[in-house]
Amino acid sequence: MDMVQRRVFSGMRPSGRLHLGNYLGALGNWVALQEEYRCIYCIVDVHALTDMQGEATRAIQPNIREMALDWLAAGIDPEKSIVFVQSHVPEVMILQTLLGMVTPLGWLMRVPTFKDKVRQLSETEDTVSYGLVGYPVLMTADVLLYKANTVPVGEDQVPHLELAREITRRFNHLYGPTFPEPQARLTEFPLILGLDGKQKMSKSLDNHIELAATPEETRTRVGTAFTDPQRLRRTDPGRPEVCNVYTLHRYFNPDRLDEVYQRCTTAQMGCVEDKRLLADGINKTLEPFRERRREMVGRAGYVQEMLRDGARRAQVIARETLAEVRQKMGLSEEAL
Ligand code: AMP
Ligand code: TRP
Repeated sequence: MDMVQRRVFSGMRPSGRLHLGNYLGALGNWVALQEEYRCIYCIVDVHALTDMQGEATRAIQPNIREMALDWLAAGIDPEKSIVFVQSHVPEVMILQTLLGMVTPLGWLMRVPTFKDKVRQLSETEDTVSYGLVGYPVLMTADVLLYKANTVPVGEDQVPHLELAREITRRFNHLYGPTFPEPQARLTEFPLILGLDGKQKMSKSLDNHIELAATPEETRTRVGTAFTDPQRLRRTDPGRPEVCNVYTLHRYFNPDRLDEVYQRCTTAQMGCVEDKRLLADGINKTLEPFRERRREMVGRAGYVQEMLRDGARRAQVIARETLAEVRQKMGLSEEAL
């Protein structure tokens, strides 16, 4: 397919402020891809409802705003890309229903994130909703509605994309070539571990550092990070290859990498100093981001206007795709 026609789509649930893992795993790629492709970025508020209900949903609107500010500060440019909120283009929910007709239930039950959620919910004696089972179908609808080829995400989303490809193949087989098979695009850091050094960095596990954290917060949080578990005494040599702090140095201190490696493995530097260096690197790298974010916060109405305009532009594409799908699936009145 022609370069000009290649389209990028990705989304994030409105969970509020983003962390380093979101940036290194996905958002950094989103920004870079804008230079080459037609990009569409979506805040998926309907997906948020798969694991929150009642009172908790009051957080959705403030979270959308916080997330949009992070995107803008990171360099997502509404002049280049379409930025919108999922529910503002409700066509996606119709496409989800239609794609649901060609998606075997067995495929959905096998998705690892679904199995994890079911396990978690059974612990709290909560129910598994119909909406939760349909999470990957809605995600597929997001991507297909815009006929995207490339989907920049972190590693945890790869199984979802595999399923999206299977649904796409099945649709194309039943109704004729309609959608490109979407492909996940990973960064050099597809899975960033949290401060615990064990699980993926995640807001819900509180093992994260926010992009928008203050320099002091960043320093305090980095100070709690786990390093090489076998390095018990200051005089023990460290093993950077198993140390999450070192992984983060690779991004935040690229020009001091050799020095850090050398001084850590020869025990010239302890973990306290190592973490201080990392915090400095993070603060230095993120200062322009934080500055732009402060500036964006001050621009009244900017986020709303961007999202309104984004939804308008996205809807033009969405309606065209949906008309084609309705026609192919026998729902178009033209044949009446
Ligand atoms: P989430 O906030 O979990 O919905 O994730 C939003 C995007 O960031 C998705 O593309 C994720 O794959 C990516 N992401 C989230 N956490 C991490 C992490 N710890 N490392 C790398 N990528 C991540
Ligand atoms: N499931 C994704 C996440 O949790 C969010 C998402 C929804 C998404 N729809 C999408 C990502 C479409 C890429 C493409 O991060």
